[in-house]
Amino acid sequence: MSDSQVWRTVDDYIADHVVTDAHDDALAAALRDSHAAGLPPISVSPPAGKLLHLLAQMQGARNILEIGTLGGYSAIWMGRALPADGRLVTLEYDPRHAEVAVRNIARAGLDKQVEVRVGAALESLPRLADENPPPFDLVFVDADKMNNPRYMEWGLRLTSAGSLIVLDNVTRGGRVADPDNTDPDVVGTRAALDMIGTHPRLTGTAIQTVGTKGYDGFALARVLA
Ligand code: SAH
Ligand code: DHB
Ligand code: MG
Repeated sequence: MSDSQVWRTVDDYIADHVVTDAHDDALAAALRDSHAAGLPPISVSPPAGKLLHLLAQMQGARNILEIGTLGGYSAIWMGRALPADGRLVTLEYDPRHAEVAVRNIARAGLDKQVEVRVGAALESLPRLADENPPPFDLVFVDADKMNNPRYMEWGLRLTSAGSLIVLDNVTRGGRVADPDNTDPDVVGTRAALDMIGTHPRLTGTAIQTVGTKGYDGFALARVLA
């Protein structure tokens, strides 16, 4: 077996034996319908979705913000960690993705708690801020990587001490550690990671991962007072 076959096999094992709630019909159907609608297969994996769910629970999250909805798979995992009066706002640029997500979220029974807002996140975020929402306890940044530093700035503005910001896909196939790489995704991700390392109100780490999505990684940043 190739390395990537091993990673996939073990991720499937984890999904079957550890993340047993990944077999839930609404989550499986969300992936199936996302695929059927031609959305790219880049939702978080079941083990990573469960991690987001656990992080939301550990945060005691009542308010969650997601940037990058796709078909709503990660939103369902996080939305399920909310109390009955909790709320998740998820921002999606592509109306076709948002349409699939709205259906998937409704089937999961989360349409009262999860709101999909269509448009470029950098346009939706100032509008959201104008509404003076309560601080978000968890922010999941998973959209166009070149804007990651802007999303970190908005994350800081819309959270408070103790909030958690999760940044997806931070290794970029290893290119993140190549200072000569000028790929906008890499430049944006490196700037966001540098913010975690240097901003006085952030402390965090980044973890490299393998699994069904190959070699990948995510960063966690805790917001300080
Ligand atoms: N969080 C999802 C996967 C998101 S994939 C999950 O794990 O299930 C990234 C998504 O970000 C895509 O749907 C893409 O259309 C969206 N996106 C790209 N640029 C964006 C932008 N400027 N504003 C908002 N969403 C954007
Ligand atoms: C890409 C985006 C993602 O959010 C992801 O999880 C994997 C890949 C991409 O744009 O290639
Ligand atoms: Mg991602």
